[in-house]
Amino acid sequence: MQQRGIDTPRLDSDLLLADALGLERLGLFLDPNRPVVGAELALFKQHLQRRARREPVAYILGQRSFWRHAFVVTPAVLVPRPETELLVEAVLEAFPPNEQTAPLDMLELGIGSGAVLGSLLVEYPTALGVGVDVSAAALAVAEQNIRQLGCGERVTLLQGDWVEPLRTPAQAARRFQIIVANPPYIASAELAQLEPEVAVWEPRQALDGGVDGLTALRQIAGEVVPWLAPGGLVALEIGATQGDAVAELLTAAGLREVTLRLDYGRRPRVVCGYRGMA
Ligand SMILES: C[S@@+](CC[C@H](N)C(=O)[O-])C[C@H]1O[C@@H](n2cnc3c(N)ncnc32)[C@H](O)[C@@H]1O
Repeated sequence: MQQRGIDTPRLDSDLLLADALGLERLGLFLDPNRPVVGAELALFKQHLQRRARREPVAYILGQRSFWRHAFVVTPAVLVPRPETELLVEAVLEAFPPNEQTAPLDMLELGIGSGAVLGSLLVEYPTALGVGVDVSAAALAVAEQNIRQLGCGERVTLLQGDWVEPLRTPAQAARRFQIIVANPPYIASAELAQLEPEVAVWEPRQALDGGVDGLTALRQIAGEVVPWLAPGGLVALEIGATQGDAVAELLTAAGLREVTLRLDYGRRPRVVCGYRGMA
């Protein structure tokens, strides 16, 4: 696999072998001499062939861990990233679950696999949520994941362009304490330079942020404020160079206490802002 440009060949082949054997990765170390034969060997070979074509491990296994749970992933959704857990952390810090006296209402724009909203629904067992995505196939994956977490009754999934599908009699009066989004934020011209796992396999509409990478962030910053409850939080994932630009967009939209949250490499990754109480 190394010759194919895959930079974690050992980890990947362990994960693919463990899956073919029906084990957790640790199981490989507990029984290192277990023979690999028959159907298990055939499946492992198939997995390796797919990986050699640079298909992401998560799509081959059909799942990815995020926060405290395993989520189904298909090529219809972005593979949830560890850095996106910062969005979950930012929300939990702003609204500590054990301090909530009334059920929260939460909105995720561009829900994809449902990893973010699903994780938050588990952390806030009485909260309600709305997830929006332009992709019907992504919404089907989100629906499956949120149902598997036991939160299906508390979520409404809507197809459409950012806040547009909320403009119906059933949803128009809703005001959210929490709005999160990890929108597409990569500049179109940079997409082709990304590794094939992303550029070839992941959905373009999950990645492509237009000419300067800010098209979706600009639209969301311009549209979300009326949907926020007084004191409500907007938390947006951003590219590492977009912090100042997006902080300005949220400030211009009238949000207060606009702050950047850094990732473990000390790069800005999440921008937060609050609606005033009035
Ligand atoms: C970067 S992915 C994030 C997925 C998931 N929230 C996560 O963090 O793993 C962006 C998501 O936004 C969705 N999306 C793109 N354009 C959209 C639009 N105009 N309106 C609603 N959703 C959109 C994509 O289909 C994709 O699922």
